[in-house]
Amino acid sequence: MDLKQITKDNVKQLEIIWNYADPDGGRGIFFNPIVVDGVMYVVAKGGAIVALDAATGKEIWSSRVFQGIIRTGINYWESKDKKDRRLIFCANQMLQALDANTGLSITNFGDNGTTSLKEGLGRDPGTIGRAQNTAPGAIYDDLIFLGSSPGEGYFSGPGHVRAYSVVTGKLVWVFHTIPHPGEYGYETWPKDAYKYAGGVNTWGEITVDEKNGIVYFPLGAPTFDYYGADRVGDDLYDESILALDARTGKRIWHFQTVHHGLWDYDLTSAPELITIQHEGKTIPAVAVAGKVGFLYVFNRLTGEPVWPIVEREVPPSDVPQEWASRTQPFPTAPPPFTRHTVTTNDINPYYPPEKREEWVKRVAAAKTGLFQPLSDKYEVISLPGAVGGANRGCTAADPDHGIVYVTANEMPSVWKLIKGPPLPVQSSSNHSSTNLAAPLAPPVNPNLSAKEIRDQACYVCHVKLRASMPNVPDLTNVVARISLAEFETTVSLGKGLMPAFSSLDENTLSELYALLGGTNILGGIPVGHEAPQVGSFRSGRGGNVMRAYPEGVVPPTNTYKVGLGGYGMETRDWISPPWSTITAYDLNKGTIKWHVALGQDPKVVPVDGKMTGMPDGEQRRSMIVTSTGIVFATCADGKLYAYDAEDGKVIWSTKLPRNTEGLPAMYEVNGRAYIAICLVAGRTPGTLPPGYVVYGLPEKK
Ligand code: HEC
Repeated sequence: MDLKQITKDNVKQLEIIWNYADPDGGRGIFFNPIVVDGVMYVVAKGGAIVALDAATGKEIWSSRVFQGIIRTGINYWESKDKKDRRLIFCANQMLQALDANTGLSITNFGDNGTTSLKEGLGRDPGTIGRAQNTAPGAIYDDLIFLGSSPGEGYFSGPGHVRAYSVVTGKLVWVFHTIPHPGEYGYETWPKDAYKYAGGVNTWGEITVDEKNGIVYFPLGAPTFDYYGADRVGDDLYDESILALDARTGKRIWHFQTVHHGLWDYDLTSAPELITIQHEGKTIPAVAVAGKVGFLYVFNRLTGEPVWPIVEREVPPSDVPQEWASRTQPFPTAPPPFTRHTVTTNDINPYYPPEKREEWVKRVAAAKTGLFQPLSDKYEVISLPGAVGGANRGCTAADPDHGIVYVTANEMPSVWKLIKGPPLPVQSSSNHSSTNLAAPLAPPVNPNLSAKEIRDQACYVCHVKLRASMPNVPDLTNVVARISLAEFETTVSLGKGLMPAFSSLDENTLSELYALLGGTNILGGIPVGHEAPQVGSFRSGRGGNVMRAYPEGVVPPTNTYKVGLGGYGMETRDWISPPWSTITAYDLNKGTIKWHVALGQDPKVVPVDGKMTGMPDGEQRRSMIVTSTGIVFATCADGKLYAYDAEDGKVIWSTKLPRNTEGLPAMYEVNGRAYIAICLVAGRTPGTLPPGYVVYGLPEKK
């Protein structure tokens, strides 16, 4: 950021300049505002794009409400002559564009205004549940790059990455992240896996090197995340950083950070582009932070690691039919930004003795380690865990000085596999649905609200027919029993006599889940806003409509699932603090410049004034690094912190008027600098309503 106005000296004077109250109460929005030419674009009103005067917060225009609109961010594009100015975004599995001046849809974009993201994936679009990303994508010239959040269940769609024209809305190229026959990496999967394997998607941030015309995609795990017997092999490009020619989509290089993923260790933070001085040479580098707590650093043109990344032996799997890679890559430098081992000495010192004792026993009985394969026989503990390490929005950089900042969570996962029945194979006599687990429900009218769907489509059975139909469960407390991911899988795939509602979109499913909720899940984390989400952001998880292996595939004799919503967390604070941290790396040296706790758990009195970080809520909030030497970070404790970029000391902090999620933005209008932050709904009360708040320095009199 090249805004010089806010300095270490005056940062203490930052005050609220304006706020915008979302008339819809901020439902499900954790949006990264964008500002262009004095206009701020936000999502509010239950799914409309709203243009605000960035200096005053006054509404300029509002679009209509888009069902299933992406809740985290949108893209801006303008033609060279600035005559054509567009907002480009995804809604309900479609790419769309608005005129940035008026908020009206551009109707000659795509097919009458929309491009279906279910097309062009090399599979029958009818077998794709989710194809929309949870992050906005990235723009380069007249292209937009998109990832996707196809879900994490068995038979989720493939995460192939794509480029579309921002002018025509047409697909320009697709790169198969699950390679097709003849493509590089195809042999790292079973021969038919490209027809049914899912995931290997970019659900987080995409970075473009504009000068060199390279686009970097951090890729996630394949599905099913925790059991890979139907995808034996290394599974390229699983959990890889992928560098493609931005114009053509051709592979330049890749690096796989986890072979045959079994732990949901997605790469999802933005790859950071930096210039470093290394052994007397200036190197254009890219640094990628993982959920595993490592920062991987490469020459960004060649993919050569700046410091060696070595393959080390890791434990084998003892689960029937599973195949685990015998080695995994470990960077030799820089050092990791999280702890990697858990011992009986690492239990939360603030716990009462009985509770500590319980965990000491549990840790002693478990197998631990970053790459310890999950088992159905004992618990496996991994730190930083599936929701730990660096997640969406967790990195930032001072690019010219080779400094990279990473926020991270340390939330150990405690996993145990639970055996389930095998999945069906399609029979040759009927290619549609007879051989499948559950019948398909008729499509639900897309204009119905979640409440109407619940009352009409769900309560038919779950309330009215419950007395006469066998085995219809009471949904009253369903959120206490099953996670959002399981809910989405059950509802979109069906189960036994429950039909599959494959036409419901991601937001509707999460709204249904919230409507049925009211109770807490996963150790007291409120449903809706702070429920842990891994592998894709809240609005984008679950849901698959492929319902059987293709004909001819011999499937594994069992399936396995994991308890506790897949993340293996019943409480998040059973290890000792810090639970969330911020780390500054000097990549000219390959060392950690400073590493401090981010935030303070209000339930705990710190010892020696040491901050604890926050055990609740992921650090998916990002940072702003200024050229004046400040790192701004918001935290799950509801505060905005200003760190000294030199030494990691907190120069200033303020309690936000309510909790935030998503990424803050810094901008300038008429020489005045502002910081915009999304205020989310959620259960914690606030002094301002959900919406957006903007900070700035007091006006000079
Ligand atoms: C035709 C009747 C029918 C309809 C309509 C129906 N369900 Fe179900 N549902 C069932 C049955 C039967 C089960 C138990 C399935 C099993 O376990 O074999 C079930 C199970 C579930 C479960 C799993 C509950 C648990 O405790 O594991 C959820 C969640 C659920 N339904 C949600 C919904 C939602 C949401 C809708 C509306 C979109 C809906 N159902 C519509 C019959 C129905």
